[in-house]
Amino acid sequence: MLPSSNSSSSTRWSSRVAFILAATGSAVGLGNVWKFPYVAGEHGGGAFVLLYLLCVLLVGLPIFAAEILLGRRGRRSPVGTMRRLVEECGVFPRWRQVGWLGMATGFVILSYYSVIAGWIVAYVTYAARGFFDGAAPSDIAALFGELTADAGAMILWHTIFMALTYEVIARGVGGGIERLVKYFVPLLIGLLIALAVVLAFEGGLLGGLRYLFKPDFSQLTGASVLAAMGQAFFSLGIGAGAIMMYGAYLSSAASIAKTSAVVALMDTGVALLAGVVVFGLVSLFALDPAQGPGLVFKTLPLAFTQMTGASYLAVMFFVLLLLAAWTSSISILEPSVVWLTEDFSMSRRAAASVMALIGWALGLLTIFSFSDPQTMSIFGYSPFELLDFTAANVMLPMLGMLVVVFAAWKLPAARTPEIWGLRSPVVWRLWFYLTHYLCPVAAAAILLHGFWPD
Ligand code: TRP
Repeated sequence: MLPSSNSSSSTRWSSRVAFILAATGSAVGLGNVWKFPYVAGEHGGGAFVLLYLLCVLLVGLPIFAAEILLGRRGRRSPVGTMRRLVEECGVFPRWRQVGWLGMATGFVILSYYSVIAGWIVAYVTYAARGFFDGAAPSDIAALFGELTADAGAMILWHTIFMALTYEVIARGVGGGIERLVKYFVPLLIGLLIALAVVLAFEGGLLGGLRYLFKPDFSQLTGASVLAAMGQAFFSLGIGAGAIMMYGAYLSSAASIAKTSAVVALMDTGVALLAGVVVFGLVSLFALDPAQGPGLVFKTLPLAFTQMTGASYLAVMFFVLLLLAAWTSSISILEPSVVWLTEDFSMSRRAAASVMALIGWALGLLTIFSFSDPQTMSIFGYSPFELLDFTAANVMLPMLGMLVVVFAAWKLPAARTPEIWGLRSPVVWRLWFYLTHYLCPVAAAAILLHGFWPD
């Protein structure tokens, strides 16, 4: 047996609210503001959004809760937690792999997440230097083109962001994570709402709402279904052991179902809000909604070009976006760091350095995907596209499905409503069917369907 793998972590959040803030901080991030609008844009808008909402409610939410439940029972890193639960429940040892694979998947996500978040750091400096004041849409698109062609610059910003992530994790749960999320998560949500209101006065809101909520089912393909599911997993931050880790610090008294519902609601609300803002700008300036990862970087600055006091607002906005990314990336790094401290008796700071360095190096693949697309292309796809697709659209749903199957079918303790924090017998019935049947079957079906050629 390895050194300290038998001792549970005694770390706890200072309160239930602290957990909700940390989990919301993890959920709300680039997935909502950067990814959701561009993925919805590539799949035609309204019908995709509907599919996304179904995925969050019927599949994402129960898996989110199941992940917290496993974490709270195991009280260790995902690897340690799965190892312990497998022993406790006497199931096939292969189940342990859910912990490993989750951490590995998280790692891949962290690597490109940090690169994109690095772009946000760059945009903070652009806003501060007044680059957006009175700029035309073509200037703003050119700015994005310049940044993503410059590998050196991207490496610099990526390094800064990874260092920020490292520092919080090195400081620990109470002194790092909790301190960061306490102020910034409420601030971020407030500012996003303010921005939507400002846009409403500029007249773009209606166009955004129309695009986002008018369904056109002819635009949906098998790939859209897979993308909607992948997006739901990415946005909630499930399947990679991050929420399992945060669940390990949750007090036994907190209601898992209720806290999960609150976090899922906030996450979905922010994604829709960001979608309305981005597509509002797209319709206001007659831009193309299907332009991939650059969408937000080419549209959001436009919101600030014509307004008075725009530079301040722009700086504030990109700083808050940066904070959103920061409170998410820490949740992805935390599990692997705790795993190193458990199984290799490393100090937290040393473990965080090792993991941040590996994530940083892996991130270079994404950087060169953008700066040097010709050389890096593999069968017409960039490494970034392949990493993102495999990690987010395939691995997260698969691991999430395994998590909910484990909780529902293998963990005897999960058979009572109390453990989930459910009181109503009707809701419990529903929950039971959702976690036992609908959720795993839907996840499996969507995974298979997504690979089916259209
Ligand atoms: N949910 C975050 C976002 O939307 C990203 C994230 C945090 C994540 N933790 C995760 C993604 C775990 C996958 C797995 O930006």
